[in-house]
Amino acid sequence: MRRQRIAVLVSGGGTNLQALLDAEAAGAVPSGEICLVVANKADAYALERAAKAGKPHTAIVRKDLGGSQEAFEAALQETLEEYRIDLIVLAGFLAILSASFTERWDRRIINIHPSLIPSFCGPGFYGLHVHEAALRRGVKISGATVHYVNEIPDGGEIILQKAVEVLPGDDPETLQKRIMREAEWQILPKATEMVCHLLSQDETEA
Ligand code: GAR
Repeated sequence: MRRQRIAVLVSGGGTNLQALLDAEAAGAVPSGEICLVVANKADAYALERAAKAGKPHTAIVRKDLGGSQEAFEAALQETLEEYRIDLIVLAGFLAILSASFTERWDRRIINIHPSLIPSFCGPGFYGLHVHEAALRRGVKISGATVHYVNEIPDGGEIILQKAVEVLPGDDPETLQKRIMREAEWQILPKATEMVCHLLSQDETEA
């Protein structure tokens, strides 16, 4: 079976990208291959992680392209085609993709979200804001979700979830770290392999 060509999209520190790179190096993503890392911020530390791992990487920055979503997505699409990408993994990618883009990549984009969807998700819920909202609501369990990406922010079909305990005295940072360590860094590589395997299977059956 052919290995699926993966692009990882990032915006910041890239610890989820690192988990994917480590999983690939450990042989835990046999159905896929990380072929490209794209950041939407020129100074994203994730780009350094990609460089260290010897992976092709680039920044595509909306404001450098005139500021429109169309121009950003056109440049992104062109780069993805250049690298013959099969699957897009959003790993801490903090921008929203338009319906025309997600339709074109139907069931070929997955995202990691740092809560148990449908709690604390949708527009405005990203990064630390998610954990602030969870603590404000007083939930005792939170976690992470990997889901397919469609036109509804955080609304696509759920692939994997993992629950994590909220502990007394947690602040948004301690909760974020525990959820990353105990959930995100585990389920994102696992879901990536699952989806790559499915895509490869579909190809062999076609
Ligand atoms: C992660 O917690 C990820 O789940 C979250 O941003 C963080 C990025 O960290 N993503 C979202 O909130 C998407 N709505 P990282 O750059 O270290 O992977």
